[in-house]
Amino acid sequence: SMDGDLADLPSLCAEARRAKAWVMVDDAHGFGPLGATGGGIVEHFGLGMDDVQVLVGTLGKAFGTAGAFVAGSEELIETLVQFARPYIYTTSQPPALACATLKSLELLRSEHWRREHLNALIKRFRQGAQAIGLELMDSATPIQPILIGDSGRALQLSQMLRERGLLVTAIRPPTVPSGSARLRVTLSAAHSLAQLELLLEALAECWPLLAGEAAARA
Ligand SMILES: Cc1ncc(COP(=O)(O)O)c(C=O)c1O
Repeated sequence: SMDGDLADLPSLCAEARRAKAWVMVDDAHGFGPLGATGGGIVEHFGLGMDDVQVLVGTLGKAFGTAGAFVAGSEELIETLVQFARPYIYTTSQPPALACATLKSLELLRSEHWRREHLNALIKRFRQGAQAIGLELMDSATPIQPILIGDSGRALQLSQMLRERGLLVTAIRPPTVPSGSARLRVTLSAAHSLAQLELLLEALAECWPLLAGEAAARA
């Protein structure tokens, strides 16, 4: 969620199989961008229910609605329906939301151009940001952190971008490890290439103005 990295799920599943353990995946950020039909990290790695017994996803990210789900065997789901107290004592989702989510699911599966466009944005962002000299993380996903280190400087850069009409939040400890404050660039299929170029231009302009940057370069 903060690094944009991918867990080595095949190895984790193999290890779990050896230990006769179950694997539970929270794929909040994988559904939509990952997998040929947006099925997330499990689809991305060609895994299935024999590998991942409990698959959790949220609807508030790529789905664009709200709520969450658990996918698994009928036995698992029936057990949760009967015994999971937070589920039993929570008002169910309104039908309108369920309906919108079903539509999102349909788009997620069928409109491959959204993933292709998103991947093109990711590629262009990484190429442009590296040309500016920004430190990125090893992410091939829509979450593209720009490592700053110091929280004050991360906030300053975020503010400079905001003044130029760009919302890129500064993520600081304790959300991320100490000394690894960053700007969390979150790309979406709804962004245009022109908007991405705007971001790169603003970063090229603001990065050298950041406190201490000129001194560090001297
Ligand atoms: C990894 C992960 N899981 C779960 C959630 C919870 O999402 P929600 O509150 O939309 O269900 C988040 C939210 O950012 C997340 O990053």
